[in-house]
Amino acid sequence: MNTLKHVAIIMDGNGRWAKRRFRPRVWGHVRGANRVSEIATTAAKLNLESLTLYAFSTENWSRPTEEVKSLFKLLKKFLIKEKKTILKNNIRFDVIGNYKVLETHIVELIDDLKESTANNTGLNLMLAINYGGRAEVVDAVNRFLKNNPLRELTESDITDNLYNPINQNIDLLIRTSGDQRVSNFLLWQISYSEFYFTDTMWPEFTAKEFKAILEKVATRERRFGGLTEDSQLNPKQVLSRDKQKTFS
Ligand code: IPE
Ligand code: IPE
Ligand code: MG
Repeated sequence: MNTLKHVAIIMDGNGRWAKRRFRPRVWGHVRGANRVSEIATTAAKLNLESLTLYAFSTENWSRPTEEVKSLFKLLKKFLIKEKKTILKNNIRFDVIGNYKVLETHIVELIDDLKESTANNTGLNLMLAINYGGRAEVVDAVNRFLKNNPLRELTESDITDNLYNPINQNIDLLIRTSGDQRVSNFLLWQISYSEFYFTDTMWPEFTAKEFKAILEKVATRERRFGGLTEDSQLNPKQVLSRDKQKTFS
């Protein structure tokens, strides 16, 4: 069994889910936003170290203004409504992405939630808002160059300058809705992550499915380019070992 410390989710499929029900896309976003709290509290209860959720990408600005407006209205609602639950579950809240360009009230709500939960010791909940994986790497390089103009970069120079300073490696990336792509999410951090794609649309993603995915992925063998005990055995040895396991 491998330990999953940091899980990231591309919460996708809100619009299609609504469309299939002959409803406006925004209705899908409303239902989708309601899923976030249950998944975050489940992660907290399972003692996961970190959960990063993709809420709005740098590319999502290209959607119709009305949809973008609705998404930020829902974000505002989430920040107000979920504060109590986040505090109660000892969750530390943070945002990755350039959220400072958003309307003042949203920036204040985010900063308030970050401050109020800064000393919590449970799950690190990161919401990716106005987030782009390439932008994050570029920002990290620029931040480094500002402080060290005359030195060549190392991998850890980039890692140390990413938006989220703690626990960056993603162990598992889940994407809902059946699409199998990364869409500019956490490009640096997923270098050795496991991937799990589910056909479930985000508004229907439950704690039950989330737990089942974590259990399933925890049994995968992660080799990180090396060899594990199993991969060094020849097939005969594996067979006889499995036989012993079955009959012992
Ligand atoms: C994910 O659902 C939410 C955001 C990207 C903000 P979508 O809105 O992308 O839903 P689909 O993929 O069009 O169904
Ligand atoms: C990725 O989903 C972004 C979020 C879930 C916030 P998109 O729906 O924007 O991605 P594409 O356009 O299908 O790649
Ligand atoms: Mg989508």
